Amino acid sequence: MRKKIVAGNWKMNTLVFEGESLAAQVVAKSNEVSGVSLVLAPPFTHLSSVAAGLKTSSVALSAQNCATEDSGAYTGEVSAAMLASVGVQYCILGHSERREYYGETDETLNKKLAVCFKNNLIPIFCVGEKLDERESNRHFEVVKAQLENTLCKLSESDYEKVVVAYEPVWAIGTGKTASPEQAQEMHAFIRKTLAAKFGDKAEATPILYGGSCKPSNAKDIFSKNDVDGGLIGGASLVADDFIAIAKSF
Ligand code: PGA
Repeated sequence: MRKKIVAGNWKMNTLVFEGESLAAQVVAKSNEVSGVSLVLAPPFTHLSSVAAGLKTSSVALSAQNCATEDSGAYTGEVSAAMLASVGVQYCILGHSERREYYGETDETLNKKLAVCFKNNLIPIFCVGEKLDERESNRHFEVVKAQLENTLCKLSESDYEKVVVAYEPVWAIGTGKTASPEQAQEMHAFIRKTLAAKFGDKAEATPILYGGSCKPSNAKDIFSKNDVDGGLIGGASLVADDFIAIAKSF
């Protein structure tokens, strides 16, 4: 049985007091969810206080990004060691917004993967194609390259810790979702690509779907064999919706 995970990516939303309240609401309802690990990824400024609020719960804490380096003269950056020191357990890496707006490349991401492992953070590693890449039927090729240039270069022992998120860029924040069939097709392809390098270990890798996932469509998407959960943006900002999505399994 693969681990099931529903993670909320709050992006650059909520002020600290609002984030604390949102986390408290998720914790209060988390006992309605069984067999699914819940993860919250608030902005950096919220991590310490949200960590305190999650302490006695089973809800895990994630960052949305980390620096490529451990420490030093990197103004404005936050290291994986700093994140670990406030109780962060996961780190989203390679989100399409970071690839697109902040120029993150495979090379950047390989450095970030390394610092995550060094500091015992579990990467939630995002891959996915843009609209024109899907429309020109290059989506498999694009995602394959994203995997082969990064995760496929890991050692087996690091690879075992990875969580993958398939997020078609055309479905993020657009209200357009991949159909359950499109999600399954790509998730199976991702698993096959990882299996070519890591064999049976790929069977145990959780692959989450992200992109306009909401209570009304989560059940159909999560019913697919290779979909092991979700990375939820907009709908994770409403505790009831986030919990409803997690209960869709
Ligand atoms: P969305 O975002 O659910 O708002 O589409 C998902 C994501 O970017 O992780």
